[in-house]
Amino acid sequence: MKIKNFTINQIFDSRGDATVEVVLVNEKNTVFRSSLPSGRSKSSREVRVLNFKEVSDAKHVRKLGAIEGKEFQSQRSFDEFLIRLDGTKERKVIGGNVMLGCSMSFARGMAAERKMEIWESLQKEFFGGSSKKIWKPFIFSNLINGGEHARNNLDIQEYMVLVQTDRSIHRAVQEVISFYEALGKELVEEKHVAVVPIGDEGGYATDFKDNKEPLVILADLIRRRNLSASFSLGMDAAANSFFSDGGYRFEGRKVTTEKLAAIYRSYFNKLPALLSLEDPFSEDDKGGFALLAEKLEGKIIVGDDLTVTNRTAIEECSSEGLINGVIIKPNQAGTVTEAAEALHAASRGKMKAIVSHRSGETDDVFIIHLAKAAGVYGVKIGAPARERIFKFNELLRIG
Ligand code: PGA
Ligand code: ZN
Repeated sequence: MKIKNFTINQIFDSRGDATVEVVLVNEKNTVFRSSLPSGRSKSSREVRVLNFKEVSDAKHVRKLGAIEGKEFQSQRSFDEFLIRLDGTKERKVIGGNVMLGCSMSFARGMAAERKMEIWESLQKEFFGGSSKKIWKPFIFSNLINGGEHARNNLDIQEYMVLVQTDRSIHRAVQEVISFYEALGKELVEEKHVAVVPIGDEGGYATDFKDNKEPLVILADLIRRRNLSASFSLGMDAAANSFFSDGGYRFEGRKVTTEKLAAIYRSYFNKLPALLSLEDPFSEDDKGGFALLAEKLEGKIIVGDDLTVTNRTAIEECSSEGLINGVIIKPNQAGTVTEAAEALHAASRGKMKAIVSHRSGETDDVFIIHLAKAAGVYGVKIGAPARERIFKFNELLRIG
């Protein structure tokens, strides 16, 4: 694709925080637009996000202007050009967010030129062309919010249902939607409130007795609705957010890594429906991951802040045997090519890859295309409501 020009616009995400969209225009004056989500429980090793003021600075505009008038034959060559242009590991010159916006819009442009869907075009370049295998991802849908995504008393950030789509994606989405509604009604009654507060990812965010109660409520509702064959449970502890001075602040007490591992183990023992656990420990507490990796057969321990969609970090965690699942967030990495490389590292390490949204989202559905192109194990897309519904709908269309 030959790039004629670009624009960066300021927009707002689902939390009302400022973010940007990047518009690339090709020679035929076709416009390709992509917008960037933003995280709240972030790793310190994610690429830098520049704000609108920084990216509208004349120096920045001139720098990125180097892409104008240039033609690139592949996603990789475009992304490598951007990486060289920025020249820093943290992507602080062009900004990881702006780079990814350019990269996604370029991917859209390439797909249009190839007369393909975005996922087909990505699959062709990065994932060995067309796959005969039908894609049946798990939907990771976050229905109860805590931690930094809510104002309630939960230390754990996310309580998800993991829904199989092997019978039909349509049916699975329909089931998540009615489950979400039923859960809301139930919480209104159980918690004696008129309305249940909603967290950043659309999940319910009332106070609970303790960090286990949401799991018990979800498991019980799954049983009562006869969904045990297709629904299981997942949690994202996002433990960075309650880690300080070498310990974890959990339910009002300071607990050690060993104690926290024992708590997680007791959840797995008491609730057989619990299948996956993301970021159970801080990104600086690899010892915790190693502790938990033992004796949890059949369960998925997932890295997110630990692995930051970085190929090398994923390879390290794989060789150390710390995790068997990994979150892929393109905006942790900065380009589509690097996200694809992270996906390859995950598959070489026999990890279950889960392509994920962020807590501050836009209507951009690019991640669903990346997920399908790579044929990943799961898509993590929040509650089936509000701005998150765009991802569910794209899954229905292309999945
Ligand atoms: P974030 O949270 O987008 O706020 O970082 C999502 C997650 O931790 O998976
Ligand atoms: Zn996470």
